[in-house]
Amino acid sequence: PAAAPAARLSTRPTSGSQPARPHSSHKGSYGDVVILGGEGLGHRGLSMTGAAWLAALTALHAGAGRVMLALLDAEHRTDQAISPWPEIMLRQPQAQDWHSATVVCGCGGGQAIEPWLPTVLQQAPRLVLDADALNAISQSASLAKLLCSRATRQQSAILTPHPLEAARLLKTDTQSVQADRLRAASALAQQFQCTALLKGSGTVIASPASTPWINSSGNALLARGGTGDVLAGLTGAIWATGCTAEQAAVQAAFRHGQLADEWPAHIPFSASVLAMHLG
Ligand code: APR
Ligand code: MG
Repeated sequence: PAAAPAARLSTRPTSGSQPARPHSSHKGSYGDVVILGGEGLGHRGLSMTGAAWLAALTALHAGAGRVMLALLDAEHRTDQAISPWPEIMLRQPQAQDWHSATVVCGCGGGQAIEPWLPTVLQQAPRLVLDADALNAISQSASLAKLLCSRATRQQSAILTPHPLEAARLLKTDTQSVQADRLRAASALAQQFQCTALLKGSGTVIASPASTPWINSSGNALLARGGTGDVLAGLTGAIWATGCTAEQAAVQAAFRHGQLADEWPAHIPFSASVLAMHLG
C-alpha cells in the first residue's frame, strides 16, 4: 500500500464567506465567543489592549452569535466601561460566561492572564490559546499539565503559536521549529493533545492521530501586527458554530489567507480592516 501523505494541502473551492444561515436559526445557533485578554503590559512593556479588541471585532464580523470581551486591564474592568462597538459586550472575567462558550484566551493580557488560566483550562469546553496564554503555559509545568488533561475530559483546545511561541512551548529555538514546521506542529499536537496551528508562511495545522494540513492561502500582506489576533478571533467564531477543532483551525487559516490573497489594491491593509471584511 502507498505510504500515507505527509500532509494535506488545505484549499476551499468556494470563495464564499460564511455558510448559508437557515431561516429558522437564531443567535444561539452560532454560539458565544468570549475573548479573555487585554493589556497587562506584558511583552516589552507594550500595551496590548488592541489585540483583544481585534479578536472580538473579528468574531463579531465572522458571524458569532454573541461576542463577549473580558478585558484584564484594571481600568476596563468596571461595569461603566463603554464598548466602542455596541454589539461587543464588555464583561468582568467570570466563569459562568465560559462554561458553554468558545473562549479565545491570550490576545494580550500579559502576566495578568496567568491567574485565570487554571479555571479556563478546566472549564471552557472549546479553548483557543494564543500569545500571552501560550507564553504562560510554556513557563508553567502545572498549566501545561492542565492543558494536556483537557483531552481526557473531552474538552479540546487549539493552540495558535507563531514560531517563537511554538519554540517556547517545545523548549527549543525558532530555527529548529522553522527547519521542520510539520514536525514542530505535530509535536505540539502530540505533547499537549490538542490541535496546533503553527503560524507563518505555510501555516501548518496538526491534530493528534491525524495527517497534518498545510494551508495554501495567505501572503506577506499578513506580516504585520494584529493579524494573528484576527486569526484567533476567526478560529473561535468558526469553532463556535459547532465544527471540530481541526475543521475550525483549517477553515480559519484558509479564510484568513484567502482574504489577504483577494485584497483589493486600493484598500490599505491593516488588521482591523481585515477583521471588518470577514463577513
Ligand atoms: N505569509 C503568509 N502568512 C503570514 C505571513 C506570510 N509571509 N506573515 C505572517 N503571516 C500570518 C501568520 O500566519 C499569522 O496568521 O499573519 C499572522 C501573524 O500572526 P502573529 O505572528 O501572531 O502576529 P500578531 O499577533 O498579529 O502580532 C505580533 O504577537 O507574539 C505577539 O507580542 C507579539 O506583539 C507581537 C504580536
Ligand atoms: Mg500573535
